[in-house]
Amino acid sequence: MSPSSHAAAATDLLEQVRSGGHVPRHVAIIMDGNGRWARERLLPRPFGHRSGMKAVREVVQGALAAGVAHLSLFAFSNENWQRPHAEVSALMALLEEYIAREVDELADRGVRVRVLGELDRLAPSALAAVQLVESRTAHNGALTLNLFISYGARRELVSAMRAMARDVAAGRLTPEAIDEGEVGRRLLTRDMPDPDLLIRTSGEQRISNFLLWQLAYTEIYISPVFWPDFGREELFEAIRDYQRRERRFGKVSPQGA
Ligand code: FPP
Repeated sequence: MSPSSHAAAATDLLEQVRSGGHVPRHVAIIMDGNGRWARERLLPRPFGHRSGMKAVREVVQGALAAGVAHLSLFAFSNENWQRPHAEVSALMALLEEYIAREVDELADRGVRVRVLGELDRLAPSALAAVQLVESRTAHNGALTLNLFISYGARRELVSAMRAMARDVAAGRLTPEAIDEGEVGRRLLTRDMPDPDLLIRTSGEQRISNFLLWQLAYTEIYISPVFWPDFGREELFEAIRDYQRRERRFGKVSPQGA
């Protein structure tokens, strides 16, 4: 397809999304396949990540156009620190580059950026970039872009459990008072709704330690496309698929009752 027919297809799909019912309030994405995208082109892996940065831009614009309120991207996991040093450095440099390039436009378009994860592991320059984009966009509300960096759900849950244990030991909480709300209030996502839709690219069918608690009732959409080729059109297709589903949250549907 030519670029203009892609644009026409995206516009058409956006119309369908807008008229197709409930737009998911929170879309979470496991961006996967950068390495394979690069390998197919006989390029080093960081080229895949660089192209992946363009896909991030596309998807942010698509989410804004569709009226999604929260977009959560899994950009770097706790486990990713174990990749070769050169790849980790390339990814961190890309994060800084993304922020430097996009901060003005994100701020102008009403996007609030939050970066969630174990940020004390970031280099000072990356941390400074994170603080800059968070403070420049803190008052925005059209879309909240949550970038999960140096994040792993099990570690997030362990931190929440430790916090509860400390509160019990200090007499501020009783074991009987621990419920889902108490856990949720101690997670990094405490002030956002759970994801309605999780998208994973590149055909892999795993959660990979992303938002384990928060994804309990989330609809999952697997796209065969490698992340660098994922754009607005693919995002809108995922939302259309979601709109055709019936969410039951463990109950029976009204028709089946
Ligand atoms: C998974 O692909 C992707 C990542 C580990 C990194 C995601 C990073 C980006 C999209 C670029 C920068 C992002 C921001 C927010 C600036 P993989 O390397 O595991 O691919 P493979 O499974 O094909 O090897």
